[in-house]
Amino acid sequence: MTSADLVIRNGTVIDGSGAAGFQADVAVSGDRISAVGDLGAMAGAREIDAQGQVVAPGFIDVHTHDDRYLFTHPEMAPKASQGVTSVVVGNCGFSLAPWKNQGKDQFPMSLWQDREDLIFESAGGYLAQLERTPPALNAAMLVGHSSLRYGAMDDVHRAATDGEIAAMQDSLRDCIDEGAIGMSSGLFYPPAQAAKTEEVTAVAAVMAAKDGIYTAHIRDEADHLLEALEEVAQIGREAGVQVVISHHKAAGLSNFGMTKQSLPRIEEFQKQQRLTLDVYPYHASSTMILPHLVSRCRKVLITWSKPRPDVRGRDLAELAVEMGMTAEDAARALSPGGAIYFQLDEEDVQRVLSYPGAMIGSDGIPDDQHPHPRLWGTFPRVLGHYARDLGLMTLESAVHRMTGLPAAQFGFTGRGELRPGNFADLVIFNPKTILDSATFEAPTEPAIGIDSVFVNGLPVWRLGKATGERPGRPIRLGDTSRGG
Ligand code: ZN
Ligand code: CU
Repeated sequence: MTSADLVIRNGTVIDGSGAAGFQADVAVSGDRISAVGDLGAMAGAREIDAQGQVVAPGFIDVHTHDDRYLFTHPEMAPKASQGVTSVVVGNCGFSLAPWKNQGKDQFPMSLWQDREDLIFESAGGYLAQLERTPPALNAAMLVGHSSLRYGAMDDVHRAATDGEIAAMQDSLRDCIDEGAIGMSSGLFYPPAQAAKTEEVTAVAAVMAAKDGIYTAHIRDEADHLLEALEEVAQIGREAGVQVVISHHKAAGLSNFGMTKQSLPRIEEFQKQQRLTLDVYPYHASSTMILPHLVSRCRKVLITWSKPRPDVRGRDLAELAVEMGMTAEDAARALSPGGAIYFQLDEEDVQRVLSYPGAMIGSDGIPDDQHPHPRLWGTFPRVLGHYARDLGLMTLESAVHRMTGLPAAQFGFTGRGELRPGNFADLVIFNPKTILDSATFEAPTEPAIGIDSVFVNGLPVWRLGKATGERPGRPIRLGDTSRGG
């Protein structure tokens, strides 16, 4: 009789490829899936009965800001509780590494830099630290273009000189050689607003030889959404790199419905270049407090405020009345801080979610005191609310967008599909009950319906609790391979 470390019996396997689910047992030996099928003759050192449950590859959160959280909260509860087994960190232009000669007071990097032991001059140092003090989940890192700017420039509020661009190129090249999987940019944000298209293209181009990926929080998701999409598509073509449009949306009340134009344009790009997108399943966005965003929102909630720690979770309009000023002035007075902006159209959200090439990324901000509920709810919300309850897509398609699709796009070899030989990153969930519980009012409630989560063969989450195991590994460029 053959044996395995773990046999999960009687579940419905949704394998992440998009194919229909099927009844099968799943065996795990060491860090790998060893068999899938009728394993009645196999004995497991440990057995789980998954009758009535789905067994799927662990979810890949392609858009996160977990760079530092992986070390400060290695159990990764907000993500493990959702069935996430791998995260991509360093999005929107901001990565914890590399950190060279930056002044520590430079906002927003200063938010992260309160621990001397978590300062990494290179991607290699960051990835090595993941090996030395492993978290529960796997992680791949992007190098933030804004982080590169801080390292190369004395003042980021201007265009970079040729010398500064060369310094950014050198730094990025080193990071890619050391295993970073690509670069992110956040041209929307103050530290990169002054960057010209040519600067980003020149920097991104150093990744072409190793096929690093380029993820983009575009310059404008509101009134100039289409122009901003053109810009990053051009960067991708001229730099010769694959583009991921981050958290695709149309922002601002006056731009509702704009995804009717943006998605067809994205399809056009896809005929000429490798370009894809991710999305989170909510009609509100979240970032630092930026007063100019206030007027385009239905409502704004404060997630944290340095000058007024007491106002977290509160409505900006109410605070403005109390403070005797306009909402915009109140936002200014509460800075630095973070906020949730109700500025998206639910129909746009559903249109992007329905787009077959859309990957799922939470964009959760783990250190916010009153975070956007996407941090704890994204994946179960897509599976339960949007796929099952609203019927926006099949369960198999929803699982594919969080597993096989991102694994192929980001080149995570041996992950993303449930088949023998692959890493045993697995989630067992109840398809009838899975649902997000986190709300805008109570944003840190763990989702329901997640039974067990395994990373590299070990359980990290079981029946509502972190197990304490930390089997996560860094995923390095080079360990990865993107199919054509
Ligand atoms: Zn972003
Ligand atoms: Cu982001």
